[in-house]
Amino acid sequence: MAERPPVTDWATDFDHLSDEWGARGPEIVAELRERCPVAHTERFHGAYLVTRYDDIAEVARDTTTFSSRITLINDNHPDDVKLELPPITLDPPGHSEIRRPMLPLFNPKEVAQLEPFIRESATKALDAIEGHEYVDGAEDFAQLIPVDLMMHLYGVESDLGPQFRSWVDGMLKDGVADIEIARKANREVQAYFVEEMNRRRAHPTDDLISTILHAEADLGDGGTRPFTERERIGTLFVLLLGGIDTTWSSIGSALYHLATNPDDLARLAADPELMPSAVEEFLRFYSPVTIARVIKEDAEIAGCPVDAGKRLLLSYPSANRDPSHFESPDEVIIDRENNRHMAFGVGVHRCLGSNLARTEMVIALTEWVKRFPRFELAVDPSDIVWTVGPVRGPRKVPLHILS
Ligand code: HEM
Repeated sequence: MAERPPVTDWATDFDHLSDEWGARGPEIVAELRERCPVAHTERFHGAYLVTRYDDIAEVARDTTTFSSRITLINDNHPDDVKLELPPITLDPPGHSEIRRPMLPLFNPKEVAQLEPFIRESATKALDAIEGHEYVDGAEDFAQLIPVDLMMHLYGVESDLGPQFRSWVDGMLKDGVADIEIARKANREVQAYFVEEMNRRRAHPTDDLISTILHAEADLGDGGTRPFTERERIGTLFVLLLGGIDTTWSSIGSALYHLATNPDDLARLAADPELMPSAVEEFLRFYSPVTIARVIKEDAEIAGCPVDAGKRLLLSYPSANRDPSHFESPDEVIIDRENNRHMAFGVGVHRCLGSNLARTEMVIALTEWVKRFPRFELAVDPSDIVWTVGPVRGPRKVPLHILS
């Protein structure tokens, strides 16, 4: 694993994989937003970090200058990153060929049909900890909901929860700092999906793996063609990565918030109708995803020159606390109006699973608050460790359930 010398100045030497970033990420980006909205580092073969709402929106929409070929920044040289995760790693026009046929999979009607399953999964997890005085909101609850759901969607019968979580961690956490871990997870996931698709070739099913197996790319001129095998593996893979860690982190952050803000908890316990707007506010304030782009040609962002060939990070979490777009951005206001947050991104890559993610969060948190209307953090807030990498969230949220 690469050594990480301490950061000398976050504006010119940032390190988004450092422990300090995990501990103080939101403060660091708030300071940069004011002082140096396009920060730079010589680490990672040279990279930039964009922190203002308007600049992030502009970069995300400019797919001609900024490519999604690589969506994370680690110690690997950009030329050595070959991970294909369509549609997230595709630029137009190829991007929409894959994205369009995937859109119906997570439209509101499809997601509504999943509600009973999500509720049952939350209830099952809560039943298992009912009566315990101390529980872990992340381990005993948040991490289970999205994994259960993805297994259900893929049509996986045995309990592969721990395996799915270890692959996700291998790709998005441990593997970001240690490429060998990522390579291993990558090999295993690819082999897993190839085997599952072969099984469905022999015995057809009607789950997500079969749907992707038979998916047709939309060529935009009325024509279609079957997904290639690499596209099939890549789309199944991106759904695993996109669908699990983000929601797991978001539910965990929300429980952390409620454990440390008894007034918000009491309001939600008294008025569950507030949950959808509270979820939007949790998504804004605790936005998990920071994503990368590759600079295709020399350009300027907010007057700062950025060099072709280098990568940049779009801090959606920072955009979501930009005071030029949000009143009192550093306060959580669970009935906030005009909450045009960017937690799901902006532009052509805007999250394909946002309906599903919102539904999972609303159901999981509603069921939790119904079961445990009073609880508090069992440790000091400074003891919570926030993950670094493309997805930020707490992996442990120790809670004391109050009677
Ligand atoms: C709270 C939960 C979630 C958050 C915060 C989130 C966030 C995001 C963000 C910020 C992007 C845009 C990335 C970019 O700009 O390049 C994105 C894309 C994507 N997300 Fe999510 N996501 C969540 C849940 C999900 C779920 C549940 C799924 C599916 C099961 C999913 C699937 C995807 C896919 C496939 C893309 C790529 C879309 C494209 O490139 O056209 N996400 N997500």
